[in-house]
Order: sequence, then C-alpha cells, then structure tokens
Amino acid sequence: MTDVDTALNEETPYARVGGGSAVRVVVDRFYELVIADPQLAPYFANADLPTLKQHQVHLISHLLGGPVEYTGRELRDAHVGLNITHEAYALVTKHLVAALTEAGVPDDIIATLGGTLVAVEPDIVSQES
Ligand code: HEM
Repeated sequence: MTDVDTALNEETPYARVGGGSAVRVVVDRFYELVIADPQLAPYFANADLPTLKQHQVHLISHLLGGPVEYTGRELRDAHVGLNITHEAYALVTKHLVAALTEAGVPDDIIATLGGTLVAVEPDIVSQES
C-alpha cells in the first residue's frame, strides 16, 4: 500500500479526523490553551513554538495512522531538564483532550490517544509533585 493509499483509506483514525489540516487545527488550539495557562506558560518561555507545533502535528498524525513520519527528538530527550511535574503533565493532557473534543474528534480516537499519553508519561515527567 502506498502512502497515498493510506491517506485515502477511510479506516485510519487519521482519515476519520480529517487528515493533516484537522490535526493542525487541534495542535494550534492545544498550544493556545497551554500558553494561556499560567501554570504551563513558563515551561514554554524558551521553546521554538513553530518547530514544536510542527513536530507535534507529525507525532499525532503518525499515532493516528497517517502517512507521516515523526522526525523530532525522542520524547525523553525533548523534555529532559524541564522539571515537568505530574501536575503539569495532567494539565497538558487536559488541554490536549479539550482541543481534540472541540474539533469533534470521535471519543474512541481520543481514548486511544489518551492511552498513549499514559504510556509516555514516565518519559516526560521528571519531578514528583
Ligand atoms: C502530554 C504529552 C506530551 C507530548 C506527546 C509532548 C510532545 C512533544 C514534542 C513532540 C516535542 C517536540 C520535540 C522536538 O521538537 O524535537 C515537545 C517539546 C516540548 N515539550 Fe512536550 N509533550 C508532552 C508533554 C509536555 C509537558 C507536560 C510539558 C511541560 C509542562 C512539555 C513541554 C515541552 C517543551 C517546553 C518543549 C520544547 C523543548 C525545546 O524546545 O527544547 N511537554 N513535546
């Protein structure tokens, strides 16, 4: 199956949510919520947001079965030294779920992504709160 076939295959969650443009809408809204959150904004003070958003779009698209490779850093490497607490992680997860829900992403897809978020938490959180 070619990448084009995969993109057109309506069975993938990526196709069901509306493809790359829908993922970009979700990611833009997600970081809008994150940056507007006073508990989270300081973490992102020195981040290169355009690159971060681009990598997040690729990662989520890939997780949804889209024909997209994730070329960013390993999650552990990207978050090392940021002292991310469990509480901050829970807030970020809440904003991502809110952005997905607002965009009309089906519940089963949100639940699957949620499972992935639980699985990667130990790679991202580096401080107990
Ligand atoms: C919920 C799960 C999370 C996922 C899937 C995720 C994913 C990512 C990705 C894909 C990148 C880009 C890596 C790169 O550009 O090479 C990134 C960077 C970053 N993340 Fe996360 N992240 C998560 C949670 C968090 C949390 C909870 C925080 C802080 C409260 C955070 C703060 C950051 C910052 C500040 C960067 C930029 C680091 C830099 O520019 O050096 N992330 N994240």
